[in-house]
Amino acid sequence: MRNILITGANRGIGFEFARQSIGRGDRVFAASRNLEKAIELQHLASANPKRMTLIKMDVTNEDDIENAYEIVNESVEGLDILINNAGIIYRGETPENFSAEILIESFKTNAIGPMMVAQRFLPLLEKGESPKIINITSQLGSIERKTFGGHYSYSSSKAALNMLVRTLAFDIRSKGIIVVVVHPGWVRTDMGGENAPIRTVDSVQGMLNLIDRLSIENTGSFLTWEGNVLPW
Ligand SMILES: NC(=O)c1ccc[n+]([C@@H]2O[C@H](COP(=O)([O-])OP(=O)(O)OC[C@H]3O[C@@H](n4cnc5c(N)ncnc54)[C@H](OP(=O)(O)O)[C@@H]3O)[C@@H](O)[C@H]2O)c1
Repeated sequence: MRNILITGANRGIGFEFARQSIGRGDRVFAASRNLEKAIELQHLASANPKRMTLIKMDVTNEDDIENAYEIVNESVEGLDILINNAGIIYRGETPENFSAEILIESFKTNAIGPMMVAQRFLPLLEKGESPKIINITSQLGSIERKTFGGHYSYSSSKAALNMLVRTLAFDIRSKGIIVVVVHPGWVRTDMGGENAPIRTVDSVQGMLNLIDRLSIENTGSFLTWEGNVLPW
């Protein structure tokens, strides 16, 4: 049984991570910024009261991160897997209309939030069993693959996430903590939309299999949900 913390666990990829992790017998800390609205998550938690704890956490709120740390720290000796999944996207950005406000909000949620969560949970990850920090990024954050316009805030915030956690990966490599960024594919969620070719269940199953296979040699890498290497 592994101890797993998932951010943005109330819907989409995050919820599926929680559902499949419970199915695999893990101990799940499922974080969501609005627990009242997280109806499916509440049902999953009431069906698995001993192995699932719901935590209110907006990843842009440092008090929430601290509170989440205290809850997890009181419940388990160590954290084995942190899945930094929460993310936002703004559509329709153009050279004329993109705004500092949207750019800042995107960086706070997609890059700074995951980094602050990782920082706070490091002491618990150090006590985990083959600990891993899995950051859900996007291939839209690949600078090499940026051969089209649009998505200013999303792409640049995911590129910032990639650089932040790659740096972290090498700083904490000696502690045995594996850090990777993973592109989940184009997935049928609220964010991915109904035309996305990949089912959430398949993307998450692929990522959980990938997580099982990761070793310290993989730390600092940019991978797809199927385990292929992506260019930065
Ligand atoms: N779907 C795709 O095709 C695709 C492709 C590449 C990468 N990704 C990445 O995969 C991750 C999950 O995406 P998804 O498709 O599952 O998206 P989604 O269905 O839109 O779900 C996003 C989740 O993030 C949460 N969230 C947003 N801002 C938050 C904050 N400040 N604090 C805490 N939670 C927050 C949302 O909570 P609320 O319900 O409260 O809004 C929701 O639970 C994201 O990082 C996304 O960038 C997705």
